[in-house]
Amino acid sequence: MSDYEDKKNKAKSYTLFNNESGQSFEIPVLKGTDGPEVLDIRSLYKDTGMFAYDPGYTSTASCSSSITYIDGHKGILRHRGYNIKDLTTHSDFIEVCYLLLHGDLPSIIDKQKFEKVINNHKMLHEQLVNFYRGFRRDAHPMAIMVGVVGALSAFYNDSTDFANINQRMIACHRLIAKIATIGSMAYKYSLGQPFVYPKDNLSYSENLLYMTFSVPTKEYKVNPVIAEAMDKFFILHADHEQNASTSTVRLAGSSGANPFACIAAGIASLWGPAHGGANEAVILMLQEIGSVENIPNFIKKSKDKNDPFRLMGFGHRVYKNYDPRAEVMKVTAHKVLKELEKSEDPLLKIALALEKLALKDEYFIEKKLYPNVDFYSGIILKAIGFPTSMFTVLFAIGRTVGWTAQWKEMIEDPVNKIGRPRQLYNGSNSRNYEIINKRETKSIFQWLWSKK
Ligand code: ACO
Repeated sequence: MSDYEDKKNKAKSYTLFNNESGQSFEIPVLKGTDGPEVLDIRSLYKDTGMFAYDPGYTSTASCSSSITYIDGHKGILRHRGYNIKDLTTHSDFIEVCYLLLHGDLPSIIDKQKFEKVINNHKMLHEQLVNFYRGFRRDAHPMAIMVGVVGALSAFYNDSTDFANINQRMIACHRLIAKIATIGSMAYKYSLGQPFVYPKDNLSYSENLLYMTFSVPTKEYKVNPVIAEAMDKFFILHADHEQNASTSTVRLAGSSGANPFACIAAGIASLWGPAHGGANEAVILMLQEIGSVENIPNFIKKSKDKNDPFRLMGFGHRVYKNYDPRAEVMKVTAHKVLKELEKSEDPLLKIALALEKLALKDEYFIEKKLYPNVDFYSGIILKAIGFPTSMFTVLFAIGRTVGWTAQWKEMIEDPVNKIGRPRQLYNGSNSRNYEIINKRETKSIFQWLWSKK
């Protein structure tokens, strides 16, 4: 008997007891291959007439998945069973893409074939390239990205049928391949520089650097240390189970929306400062701190309940231990800064001192707040030469493979249903309708002021 079968047989159930009626209801327990057991409340409403209330999904598993496993208390992150440290040490990004999409690491031949497929999809339809001209030059590259990725469905409608396995796979390949080109072009557009097209003889990360930083008038040689750092960055951001943007992709996809529209929705969700926008926010915070002496004041501010300020790059919904991705980012930051002869970078100095002080602070210890992946990634990206507005774009480029793998898994899951959460209604009870000339005037502006 397999370990999993054994656990399943020993599965417990919980009893929900209604004090008023004296009725009791059995709630079965499900056990995955790893991680906490899960109460199966699918028939809760049917059996009891009640919903479960869980804003922010802090205790709710929205799906079952075999892609990524996180143990936030132990600081463990695994993709398809492989530890993230092994993947960043031994694999490159394209191999991790294959792993996430197909479930296993590729053989040499499979990897070559996969890379060829991705290379074939890297360019954009020329008409889509013209689409960029509709944006203002000072548009945030994330705004451009949401628009251009959403527009892919208008250009590649031969891979929008989610029910067709071939179209599903082609859509995943197209998204993974084109997203780096889309992100680099958003940057080039903001500078007013010509777009640079990808090359087949460069790796995924080399291409990204080439398309972003080269200009047609000059020879551009990719620095291998920087390309390796970008590859690690993409691996570390490739997937992270059911976070806000991934859940957004799944929710959008659960209605049967096409994959390009779903990934555009994921990009929009990633943009927020509590999620992918945090790497940009970390740099702004370090710049605002300005010098090591000011750190205690900022730590104090972040602990003040009446102040909305939080230490950016600290804390995580799932990790209640050091984020394993932050460890790799920290080592990579040192390598990149050494290579670029920026080891004395003032922001790195502030970041190291801030981390040291916060980790000794009772508030952060008690609340289990540790640096997350965003804490050091911004320092790396800034040193390489990316403007802060590109940071979340780069996160989106890395995460696209995770979004597509999760979307594909959801479509192929036999228990897939349209996502439709319920609510705890707190509004008015039934009211009598008043005709307009009987209603009291309430200025909308008065209402707005009263909210301040
Ligand atoms: N600085 C100061 N206090 C914090 C921080 C922080 N960075 N993060 C959490 N806390 C405090 C909260 O105020 C709260 O205190 P309370 O219990 O007294 O009310 C407690 O720690 C728990 O925090 P929650 O907000 O309930 O934790 P949640 O899981 O909802 O939030 C989040 C996680 C959004 C990441 C939060 O830690 C945060 O805002 N961090 C800063 C932004 C950031 O770095 N985001 C990137 C996340 S990683 C990623 O998306 C790739």
